[in-house]
Amino acid sequence: MKNQLFYGENLEILRKFIPDNSVDLIYIDPPFHSKRNYYLLENQVFTDIWKWNNISEIEFLEILENKNISNKTKNLLKNFENFLEKNNLFAYLVNLTLRISEMYRILKDSGSFYLHCDFSASHYLKLILDSIFGNQNFQNEIIWYYSAGVRGKKRWAKKHDTIFFYSKSQKWTFNWKNILEPFESKMTQWRYSQGKQQRKEIPQGKIPADVFEIQILNTMAKERNGYPTQKPEMLLEKIIKASSNEGETILDAYCGSGTTLVVAAKLNRNFIGIDNSETAIHVSQKRLTNAKVLHQTTKL
Ligand SMILES: C[S@@+](CC[C@H](N)C(=O)[O-])C[C@H]1O[C@@H](n2cnc3c(N)ncnc32)[C@H](O)[C@@H]1O
Repeated sequence: MKNQLFYGENLEILRKFIPDNSVDLIYIDPPFHSKRNYYLLENQVFTDIWKWNNISEIEFLEILENKNISNKTKNLLKNFENFLEKNNLFAYLVNLTLRISEMYRILKDSGSFYLHCDFSASHYLKLILDSIFGNQNFQNEIIWYYSAGVRGKKRWAKKHDTIFFYSKSQKWTFNWKNILEPFESKMTQWRYSQGKQQRKEIPQGKIPADVFEIQILNTMAKERNGYPTQKPEMLLEKIIKASSNEGETILDAYCGSGTTLVVAAKLNRNFIGIDNSETAIHVSQKRLTNAKVLHQTTKL
């Protein structure tokens, strides 16, 4: 499957088009439960306001009856129901649990999964991911720190997002040599070898820590395309370089303006992008067509 964009509800598209164990890396940046709508100019492009409704009821039952979903996940959700009751946050968690479970199915055993979220629901999402992937496959909680933007005076300024990184098994790709960061100074490494200290130049750099300091895209940024919540290419570059190889397939099931897809193509990976917002598909199509990398767009 080469460089595909899908317009529609991701759960249906994953079920209809994407085979089991077929994707090497999944990065998703779904709505965060921010309790607001998002606009491009005057037009609403997607909503992040959740309500417990008939669809939540059906999806909750689907989870409880789905034989591919583990009892751990089912029990966790039943406990969330007891704790939260059928409120807006629970509606959000049910929605994501069903979709992430479907992504788990299509991820290869050697694959990696990244979920981008924030304080609004990260602590609940971590438990859901532990139940789906197994706590033993939890690799990192990455903090994306940015300093720009407004700062209120009532509490500490909220200046980070959280990205959870899981593998599907104990065998996963981590290309540390491709993501080394230069040392601040011409440091040297001292090694004790053969009975004495030996001076040794460090040729490449250091392995990045789990705090990524990358600025958010301000309105003047060159890569800015106007899509609300657009993520910087540099953030995706780090993840894709580390957790995939050339020729492999990367899925973003909430692709928005197509940042993951553009970076994947630039790094010679195949991509599958899905979004149910018409505006998102237009912006992604434009970006990918300009880069001459889009093979096909499919509408559900
Ligand atoms: C936070 S944005 C992603 C932004 C993207 N990372 C970027 O850099 O432009 C989340 C996206 O998820 C999409 N979305 C939300 N629920 C969806 C669903 N069930 N199926 C497909 N897309 C969905 C929204 O339309 C929105 O574009």
